[in-house]
Amino acid sequence: MPNSPLILSGKAVSAAIKEDLMLRIKKLAEQGIKPGLTAVLVGEDPASQVYVRSKERQSVQLGFKSIVMRLDASTTQEELLRIVEALNQDASVHGILVQLPLPAHIDDQLIIEAIDPEKDVDGFHPISVGKLVLGLDGFVSCTPAGILEILRYYNIQTEGKHVVVVGRSNIVGKPMANLMIQKRSMGNATVTLVHTRTPDMGVHTRQADILIAAAGVPEFIGADMVKAGAVVIDVGINRVDDASLEKGYRLTGDVNYEAVLDKVSAITPVPGGVGVMTIAMLLSNTVKSAENSLK
Ligand code: GUN
Repeated sequence: MPNSPLILSGKAVSAAIKEDLMLRIKKLAEQGIKPGLTAVLVGEDPASQVYVRSKERQSVQLGFKSIVMRLDASTTQEELLRIVEALNQDASVHGILVQLPLPAHIDDQLIIEAIDPEKDVDGFHPISVGKLVLGLDGFVSCTPAGILEILRYYNIQTEGKHVVVVGRSNIVGKPMANLMIQKRSMGNATVTLVHTRTPDMGVHTRQADILIAAAGVPEFIGADMVKAGAVVIDVGINRVDDASLEKGYRLTGDVNYEAVLDKVSAITPVPGGVGVMTIAMLLSNTVKSAENSLK
C-alpha cells in the first residue's frame, strides 16, 4: 500500500496565526496603537525584493503601519547606521528589519547590533540570540519559530525525539537546534546538528525522527538520507533553472520531495511550507513588540 504522508501546510498554520494576531491588533487599536514595521532594503537583490514586497503586502493586510525604505546599493555603512538609529528613536516603529544580505561594503553584524533589541523582530541581535539560548523571553528568529508553530499545529511531539538539523546558519540552524533542546513544550528533544564538515552526514540524518533541512543546497536530501516514517521539515527555497517554465526557473527545497514522499510520515512542501511561516512569525514578533511598548 503506498504511503501517503501528512503534508504540513505552512499556509494553514499561517492563516491560524494571523487570525489570532488580528484579535491582538484589535486590542492594540483600542489603546491607540498600530503595529509599525519598517523594512530597510539596500540594493536590488531580486530574491530580497520579492521577500520585502511580500512582508509589506502581508503587514498592510493586517493593518500595520508598514514602511519599506528602498536604498541605493551605494548607501554607505555610516548612512545606514544613521537610518537605523533614527528608527530606534521613532516610537511609531515597533519592528525594524534590515533585509540581508547587505552589499559587500557594509558589515551585516555591525548593522544588526545597531538595532534596538526591543525592536529586533528578526531575532538576529546578540541579545535576542542570547535570550533564546538561555530560554528567556525575547524575539526568536522567524524561520525556526515558524517551524515550531508548524509542529505545534499538527501536534507533532518533540519531547524525547531525535531531531537532526542540517545546516549551522545563524538564522536557522543554530537557533533551531537551541530551541529544540529547551526544557519546555516543543523542546526536550535530543539534537544533532550536522554541517558541511560532517563526514558521512547520512549516518546521522537516517537516525532522525524529525529531520530539519536548512543546508541551502537544492534537493540535497534524498530518500537514502531519511528514516522510514520520519517527519521532514524543508527550509530550503532554491531557484533552479527550468527552461520548460515561462519564468525560466522553479522553486525547490533542500529535500528531494518526490523521492522521499513515499518514505516519510509528514513533510513540508516548497513553496507553501516553512517559507510562508517566516513572514507570519515576523508579523507576530512585531505585534509582540507593539504590546511590549505598552508595558
Ligand atoms: N534574508 C533572508 N532571510 C531573511 C530574514 O528572515 N530576515 C532578514 N532581515 N533578511 C533575510
